[in-house]
Amino acid sequence: MKILIFETAEMAAARAAQQIVERVCAQPKSILGFATGGTMPPVYQYLAKAFAEGHVSFASAVTFNLDEYVGLAPDHACSYHHFMARELFDLTDFAPDHTNLPHGDAPDPVAEAARYEALIKAKGPIDLQLLGIGGNGHIGFNEPTSSIGSRTRIKTLTKATRAANQKYFGDTEDPPQFAITVGIQTILESREIVLLATGAAKAPAVVEMVEGAISASCPATALQLHPKATIILDQAAAANLKLREYYSQVHPNGQEIPVV
Ligand code: PGA
Repeated sequence: MKILIFETAEMAAARAAQQIVERVCAQPKSILGFATGGTMPPVYQYLAKAFAEGHVSFASAVTFNLDEYVGLAPDHACSYHHFMARELFDLTDFAPDHTNLPHGDAPDPVAEAARYEALIKAKGPIDLQLLGIGGNGHIGFNEPTSSIGSRTRIKTLTKATRAANQKYFGDTEDPPQFAITVGIQTILESREIVLLATGAAKAPAVVEMVEGAISASCPATALQLHPKATIILDQAAAANLKLREYYSQVHPNGQEIPVV
């Protein structure tokens, strides 16, 4: 794992976004794995700005999002379809027929999960997968005890995850109990992974992911198995890391330094 620690959340988000821009500039037909959640809007704002300023075009890129709530139609304000349109797709030139998310309102969600997994297999592998991390160590909606060999499927959301996402649903509606999420094995098959975590609330999950033993009880620990995973943190999310000084020695302020 490459651990990059930045002074601020803004700098960390910019670094994650920069890696996406560089990937797409080098390979316009890149297949990108995207994530939702409160950590991601600054990344998407950076991508929208890079597009608006003419530094990058996403017209040939293909995207696969990690997950969607079961039961929510794409036009539901809390669906991840809606999130992606609002935060990124409507602000850039991603081609609508190149952007993919599981359909939460599919009549048969189990079949929909299988269709989505097959589509990733047919078009993939994903070149660059962007991830956040839940306070309980989930990646995508792979909640604790998700198999490291898992594929796209239905997961029951934990109370903690539903409580964390209640703020998006307001007082009148609860977050759905179920989601379709790509599996951990599906994620591990990506060529490159970038996980972004910012804020003190993520510090316990981050230390377990980076320095804990690989375990289904913290799904993000599976990233230790990936040969090209970059973990991008701000100071607050990195606060509990025991080898923090070492990571900063290897990458001072998150920068790459020449080996010789
Ligand atoms: P957050 O969620 O960005 O809203 O904290 C991350 C996640 O649950 O993966």
